Amino acid sequence: MLITLEGLDGSGKTTVWEALHDSHPEATFTREPTESWYGDAVNRAIDDDDADPLATLFLFTADHADHLSRTIRPALENDELVISDRYSDSRYAYQAAALSGSDLTRPMEYIRGIHSAFTREPDKTIYLEVDPETAAARSGSTNQFEDAAFLAQVESNYERLIDAEPDRFVRVDGTQSPEAVIESVEEIVDRLRAEDA
Ligand code: TYD
Repeated sequence: MLITLEGLDGSGKTTVWEALHDSHPEATFTREPTESWYGDAVNRAIDDDDADPLATLFLFTADHADHLSRTIRPALENDELVISDRYSDSRYAYQAAALSGSDLTRPMEYIRGIHSAFTREPDKTIYLEVDPETAAARSGSTNQFEDAAFLAQVESNYERLIDAEPDRFVRVDGTQSPEAVIESVEEIVDRLRAEDA
């Protein structure tokens, strides 16, 4: 079973993902951008304010292809529980926002189309909800994606994704205390595991 964690920068995903290591030690924990050289290239693009957004999309997508073949598919074939901190929805939400002023008429549909040929959809996606102002303030606005106005577009893209697939997403209020967020997510993962058994 593949569970992904999504949300704006500063939504607390990574803290939750780290806490889940203790409560679900049997799971395979992974993340995007990955720690491969593809992930290094992605991180260079994230830190370059002049990076071409279409080029950045393809770097992220290359990293995803490698992540699927090297980590995700082998673990799922082994019947493992896989928990990924960010996954394809991050592209659908962030790169669709980054490409909103480009020549592409429907960036999100375009990005989804590229992925649909080869990706593996998550079974469930836990969405940590925070407002864009909180997200920008918590993340410290250290890169091009952490600006409140940009994150407002990302948030509305996530909302579109949730509207399109309400059964795949589970919302968690990310403005609660870290302990409360962790507890909510641990309960959700336990429930999903029990339903899957
Ligand atoms: P991440 O390492 O998850 O940052 P954080 O832990 O601060 O949330 O992701 C790095 C940045 O890359 C973050 O601003 C979100 C962005 N991002 C995309 O724009 N598209 C993607 O597909 C992914 C995986 C991340």
